[in-house]
Amino acid sequence: MSIKISERESWGSKVGFILAAAGSAIGLGNIWKFPYIAGENGGAAFIFIYLICIAVIGLPVLMAEVLLGRTTQRNPVGAFKALSNSPYWAAIGGMGVIAGFVILSFYGVVAGWSFGYIFEAIKGSFYDFTEPASSADHFGSLTSNVTWIVGFLAVFMGLTMFIVYSGVQKGIERGSKIMMPILLIILFVLMIKGISLDGSEKGLSFILEPDWSKVTGEGVLLALGHAFFTLSLGMGAMMTYGSYMSKKDSIPSAAVQIVFLDTIIALIAGVAIFTAVFATGQDPAAGPGLIFQTLPVVFTKMPGGYFFSILFFLLLTIAALTSSISLLEVVVAYFVDEKKWKRKQAVIVFGIITFLVGVPSALSFNLIADIKLFGLNFFDLADWLASNILLPIGGLFISIFVAWIWGFDKVLIEMKKGAESLFELHPWIIKFWKIFIKYFSPVLIFLVFLHSIGVLDLIIDLFI
Ligand code: PHE
Repeated sequence: MSIKISERESWGSKVGFILAAAGSAIGLGNIWKFPYIAGENGGAAFIFIYLICIAVIGLPVLMAEVLLGRTTQRNPVGAFKALSNSPYWAAIGGMGVIAGFVILSFYGVVAGWSFGYIFEAIKGSFYDFTEPASSADHFGSLTSNVTWIVGFLAVFMGLTMFIVYSGVQKGIERGSKIMMPILLIILFVLMIKGISLDGSEKGLSFILEPDWSKVTGEGVLLALGHAFFTLSLGMGAMMTYGSYMSKKDSIPSAAVQIVFLDTIIALIAGVAIFTAVFATGQDPAAGPGLIFQTLPVVFTKMPGGYFFSILFFLLLTIAALTSSISLLEVVVAYFVDEKKWKRKQAVIVFGIITFLVGVPSALSFNLIADIKLFGLNFFDLADWLASNILLPIGGLFISIFVAWIWGFDKVLIEMKKGAESLFELHPWIIKFWKIFIKYFSPVLIFLVFLHSIGVLDLIIDLFI
């Protein structure tokens, strides 16, 4: 008779962790959201502010989250419980688990469109529309088709479940090691293609030459909020991934590599998309429809568009998949660690539940489009709730906990593990991190949060 010792899973290598975490960070946020919000907010100037937000808040909070996970080797709830012994802090971790459901609900729908668009591209459907209006009509007719939208949501959730089901090393790590290089190659090919198009210079200058007159307070806050979303911060995804990390590896260097990959990919996606959009004379500020309505038109107008359209939606689907697995993993890790469930059982139960939570988001484009709460349909509400409420509050409390509650001497001991020589050579790293995590992050995140719920605007109106 063999006695089973339940040993917690871990990454097979440091590269495995970095690719998985970068995979979580790089997703629809980089390829779908970032280009359209940059497009709507003046291009280069917005991008400049976004980069500052990534450096000043994104990187320090990412280090804090990974540290919490690695120190406790627990899911977000278990991590806070282990360090604070307080149900209130554990509830902050619980909010992250709930955010996992909420984000997957709308994320899975957009990822499902992306998956469905691979088939549209293969069928050559895009050749039927040479102008944005017909492309938009086509998008409208697909998303109003309940079978199409719910079907592709189901398929995408199935893929997500399959990877998480296979485990941390055999599923998430292996999947990321295969998918991330493919993603990088496709994106690179698309960028070269975009730059080589006649008239691409206008696209390049749109994202490289800042027009400061276009910067608004709204844009700054948007950039800050997006920095959070794109790095998968504030809901424990990075904490959970950090919990499988070895104490022999350096957190600061891993965090820098993750942030670098995430940022460079968003920029390359921006170059690939805007060079093509400008070269074919389309509108860069088309909003959320930029990818699904404008790009198909762009593909019909460019040489080799058939091939590149398939590549593009494949890229988008892969990016979404490496992120959705991290969302499901937060929920699964909680049930495995805290409730002693088997991984496989947790994946099946919560995979199905997240699919069901996604259904109303999918139906927001057809059957229940008119059902609104606070003026938002279910899909927009889930997006708003996650991006504007749950993630900023989560990030705020994570910074406060690490900077003010845990005890900074203990924080430093943990942070130094695996990074001894780095800190010896560059002691300033720790000083900077301390200042950022103690002051900059909490204050700035709090401002974003106030803005999100409309309080900041009220205060500004009162005083200015
Ligand atoms: N970072 C992912 C993206 O940019 C989204 C995400 C948010 C994933 C939060 C996990 C947690 O698409």
